[in-house]
Amino acid sequence: MNDSPLHQFGLQLLQSHKIDFKKNDKAFVNHFFAHLDEIEFLFNEIYGGHSKRNEAFDTLLSALILFYQQRPAIFKNKDAAKAKKQNWFLSSDITGMSLYVDRFAGNLKGVQEKLPYFKELGVNFLHLMPLFESPEGESDGGYAVSNFRKIDARFGSNEDLNSLIQEMNQQDMYVMLDIVFNHTSHQHEWAQKAKAGDTYYQDFFYCYNTQDIPNQFNESMPEILPESSPGNFTYIPECKKWVMTVFHHYQWDLNYSNPSVFVAMLEHVLHYANLGVDILRIDAPAFIWKQMGTSCQNLPQAHTLLRLLKQCVLVASPGMALLGEAIVAPNEIIKYFGTDEGIAKECDLAYNATQMALQWDALATGDTRVMLAAQHPIMQKPFGCTWLSYTRCHDDIGLGYDDEMIERAGFNAYQHRTYLKNYYAGWQEGSPAAGALFSVNPKTGDARISGSLASLCGLEKAIEWKSEIEIEHALRKIILMQAMTLFIGGIPMLFYGDELAYTNDYSYLQEADKSYDNRWMHRPIVHWDKNEKRNEVGSYENTIFTATKKMIALRGSLSIVSDLKNMNWMPPHNIHIAGFVRTHENKKLYCVFNYKNTASYLTWYAFKEQGERPSVLHDHWTGKDFKVGNDHEHFVLAPYSFAILETIK
Ligand code: GLC
Repeated sequence: MNDSPLHQFGLQLLQSHKIDFKKNDKAFVNHFFAHLDEIEFLFNEIYGGHSKRNEAFDTLLSALILFYQQRPAIFKNKDAAKAKKQNWFLSSDITGMSLYVDRFAGNLKGVQEKLPYFKELGVNFLHLMPLFESPEGESDGGYAVSNFRKIDARFGSNEDLNSLIQEMNQQDMYVMLDIVFNHTSHQHEWAQKAKAGDTYYQDFFYCYNTQDIPNQFNESMPEILPESSPGNFTYIPECKKWVMTVFHHYQWDLNYSNPSVFVAMLEHVLHYANLGVDILRIDAPAFIWKQMGTSCQNLPQAHTLLRLLKQCVLVASPGMALLGEAIVAPNEIIKYFGTDEGIAKECDLAYNATQMALQWDALATGDTRVMLAAQHPIMQKPFGCTWLSYTRCHDDIGLGYDDEMIERAGFNAYQHRTYLKNYYAGWQEGSPAAGALFSVNPKTGDARISGSLASLCGLEKAIEWKSEIEIEHALRKIILMQAMTLFIGGIPMLFYGDELAYTNDYSYLQEADKSYDNRWMHRPIVHWDKNEKRNEVGSYENTIFTATKKMIALRGSLSIVSDLKNMNWMPPHNIHIAGFVRTHENKKLYCVFNYKNTASYLTWYAFKEQGERPSVLHDHWTGKDFKVGNDHEHFVLAPYSFAILETIK
């Protein structure tokens, strides 16, 4: 604390809230003053000239104090324990699973009953897909929120969530929820009031009387859902206005140039922190700042707002980490960790969407050159931040890396992308994949890919073809993809169903509110009799469940896999094999992955290029030891296989 007017004002505010400076609240007071200047600086960057600046800033500071005061003791203690661990989320003993509560186990109570299942698998972190009230039929899987504080009756009650989180805490599990930060449902109270003509709430959104301004925006704004929801604005007859709706027409974009919007959403964020959220997934952060003449994505102001949010969280609920769901170009994703003086001061985690897509690229082509050519931006991640690593999630797969990366690997970008799309849609001659194209934009030729891990890896078709070899390859591909995700570093997030090789679920076609969105094909309804098959030796479910479980346990036992910025790619020697080496203290772990449908050979020299030369390597996956051979001899990797080799001599 210092003598500046800001600190004096802060002091008065703390006193008026009866903060205990000496004992209980000492740590909070330290955090408050440590971050106060930066909070004001960032707030002024965005709102300095706004007529509501002072009022909004005071409300913000009071909110930090109030939410801290309301924070349950159990989570304050957890904050302190996490602080002791330092960057607790870098550890290799966290493995997550993302799931729809209703599709997985009916409701929240059902999920609570299934906690032993996660334990059996080794999963200790759950991403519960959006749970808050969202209108049926217009919910975008819960990403159109009509009430940020009330659990949707479909999933149970607020008490059910509290009870689940409490139980998870007792079992040392972590939880992630979403804050749908960019937009609300058109049925949210704010939107309803705006529709009824309340100008205070119309200012919460982008509302225009005529199409003039929307047309100007549209000139530079891409369409996100060109098939199911073309355009970026929707006409609202009730208030006779054009409202910005970048995603579906029922999702109204919040206007963050209004400081009241930021403060109101911050309060929801702090409320979620107080529910016991360990990692908050910030949905679609790339979109939160709009400016005419730009793509309205990844703008510098969006980053400033995220940095501001992070500072506020550090004061009121320091144990809660932030995950930015920015599924954008590689050079843009990395900026969500912060840049320049804000480096490592923005999101703690970001989705490694680039690596995820690159693995799908390598799998379809049997060639790892694009993966390697695209690593530069990924490797820029600052120490102390980490990735959310994943093979599949509830969304489509976007081939978001740059054309230039594909070209550097020696391919024609257009042909390469066309091949990948045709391959995963299953149109390519001989392709074993059974996916579909999502959000095809005929104007730009862009398309993304839907399909479950197992179906994209070929299991669905292989079963149909009754082909033993294709089934074998599909199962190997599933394990290979998950292995790379688990060992590359960052928190691995499995998607429910993938641990049991669920193929596409086409039941969504029968549901009017889902049939327009083929992402539902890879969001299965779990059948617990199928899940029981994990115990039947020889079943696909058993093969995949057992392998996944083994990989998770192995990862947990190898602290070298923790994300200590200790990973380097091995120089390529065989285009079918991608490898990286992790080092820590005097340990070294080589992780090598063969993306080819035949055995691939790797010169032993590949293991001798990084510091001291090993003479014996132990493969943690197969349990075998290998004597490192001469440079003209080879380590052999079976089709679609991998090895996790530690130097033991
Ligand atoms: C995120 C979600 C996606 C949703 C979109 C709009 O990208 O992951 O499912 O459709 O945001 O909220």
